[in-house]
Amino acid sequence: MTISIVGAGNMAKGIASRFLAGGHSVTIVAREALRSRRLVEELAPLAHSSGASVLVADWNDPLKNEVVVLAMSYSGNLETARHLASGLAGKIVVEISNPLNETYDGLVTTPDMSAAEMIQAVLPESKVVKAFNTVFANTLLTGQVAGQPLDVLVAGNDDKAKSLVSGLIRSAGLIFIDVGPLHRARQLEAMALLGITLQGPLGLNFMSAWKLLH
Ligand SMILES: NC(=O)c1ccc[n+]([C@@H]2O[C@H](COP(=O)([O-])OP(=O)(O)OC[C@H]3O[C@@H](n4cnc5c(N)ncnc54)[C@H](OP(=O)(O)O)[C@@H]3O)[C@@H](O)[C@H]2O)c1
Repeated sequence: MTISIVGAGNMAKGIASRFLAGGHSVTIVAREALRSRRLVEELAPLAHSSGASVLVADWNDPLKNEVVVLAMSYSGNLETARHLASGLAGKIVVEISNPLNETYDGLVTTPDMSAAEMIQAVLPESKVVKAFNTVFANTLLTGQVAGQPLDVLVAGNDDKAKSLVSGLIRSAGLIFIDVGPLHRARQLEAMALLGITLQGPLGLNFMSAWKLLH
């Protein structure tokens, strides 16, 4: 299938890399056309080798695909969700943000709320799925850390939407873990914050990953 990714930064690149490796096509949409074109050029060899395609869509064009990943800052996701609301109705919206404060040592959301729930409130007619916020962008380029496939923890209220996202994640060579309803995003966002605060003290350089062992 073809997935729309809104944003052309590090996470857009990482997530697009995995979807392309899984044989899915990707459309990149960013407010700066130059940035999306550059990302598409970077991803083209991977798309070519996996028989998929990577294309640019214009910021003002309607989003055509059933799955749309919002890959901007939390404030960018909110702003863009408001802007695109009618165009996202009925679609699966994958929300990946961590609502970090300016010093990256706390969240701007209150403990009884998450970025994903805020986006769902702005997009009542979309099926919002929280995913990918607990993995680091550069680890997505290979999908592994220390030879282990990344765990992707996923929260959402719509089981069909989660099932479709699980297929995408598995085909990308990653481990899908359903953590429950969308309000579990509160814990996922706190977990990601904790992971971020550990990078400096432990010298992990954003190349670590959370792993659920059993
Ligand atoms: N980096 C990670 O390892 C990581 C891990 C997990 C989750 N996340 C989350 O993933 C999201 C993206 O992170 P990133 O590292 O990819 O960031 P990034 O490299 O800075 O890229 C952000 C992208 O969002 C766009 N953007 C920001 N605000 C916007 C707005 N108001 N309207 C339209 N576009 C806007 C930027 O466009 P411009 O270039 O025009 O500014 C850029 O294309 C964040 O919410 C972050 O919390 C990141």
